[in-house]
Amino acid sequence: MTEPATTSTTDGRGRYRSAMRLDDKTAIITGGSNGIGRACATRFSREGASIVVADLLVDEGRAAAAAIEADGGRAIFVELEASDPESNRAMVDAAVDAFGTVDVLVTAAGISHGGYLSGDAEADRKRYTAAAERADTPAASLTELDIDDWRRVLDVNLTGTLLAVQAMAKTLIDQDRSGSIVTIASIAAVDPLWGAPSYPVSKAGVWMLTKNAARTLAPVGIRVNSIGPGFIETNMTAVMSEVEEIHGVVMGGTPLGRKGTPDEVANVALFLASDEASFVTGELIHPDGGWFTG
Ligand SMILES: NC(=O)c1ccc[n+]([C@@H]2O[C@H](COP(=O)([O-])OP(=O)(O)OC[C@H]3O[C@@H](n4cnc5c(N)ncnc54)[C@H](O)[C@@H]3O)[C@@H](O)[C@H]2O)c1
Repeated sequence: MTEPATTSTTDGRGRYRSAMRLDDKTAIITGGSNGIGRACATRFSREGASIVVADLLVDEGRAAAAAIEADGGRAIFVELEASDPESNRAMVDAAVDAFGTVDVLVTAAGISHGGYLSGDAEADRKRYTAAAERADTPAASLTELDIDDWRRVLDVNLTGTLLAVQAMAKTLIDQDRSGSIVTIASIAAVDPLWGAPSYPVSKAGVWMLTKNAARTLAPVGIRVNSIGPGFIETNMTAVMSEVEEIHGVVMGGTPLGRKGTPDEVANVALFLASDEASFVTGELIHPDGGWFTG
């Protein structure tokens, strides 16, 4: 079971030395090749964790793991298709094979639309430009919604989160260990934003899944929390900022007047992952620059 937080230990001569917050822990980060997931992987490594970077994108994922090792950390890369049950089980098995145990899971793998591929700016540019041109027929984003697009967003964002949580929880229970799971939702979990319903519905599902899992897994000592970022500087929002209409709405709704950085989300994830949050479960925290103050 989770023990209360300890932030320092004494050395042999009774002097205090700060303990790193994830010393001796293993953390799996889905979507760890880029953006928020990569920032979590880097931050957690610097707090002492062994890292499993899991992602669809192999070259970027290997580079992320190599950068952690070059920085003095321990990391492996595992290829993951988030929507596939077997792939999620293999990811957790690979973590146990490499590091012996698992302690922390962050589910940052996600897509903003069915055709999203992190780093493919051209595809996003076409999509957001077309959306801006249809601004005078807003109902079309619902009435003309492509059902395959909807299914892929739900498969990756919601079912993918469920499958990773399932595989992680099963292994933690088998190993009789406590653990911390952090899901990545969005402000869109509670604000429908604008445009196609797929993304907000998937993130609302992630939030409800988080609360359900928090209650279900509390008796076995597993905490489950969610983060609902506002607009963050990653591949996912890079092209949005080029479209004046969209950028204006984003900045207008963000009192701090800028997008957040992936590190600012990783800081929240670190708190939730660590024993400092030992009495926090079923919670949603918004690093969003004040989006919900309106
Ligand atoms: N950037 C934002 O403003 C923002 C805001 C709120 C929530 N989020 C959420 O944060 C998470 C991370 O997004 P990001 O902004 O860092 O974007 P990103 O594109 O930089 O990172 C997403 C990562 O997920 C991976 N991924 C996508 N589909 C996958 C799949 N099927 N299997 C395995 N990996 C897959 C991508 O390859 C990529 O490395 C997502 O869930 C996103 O919805 C982002």
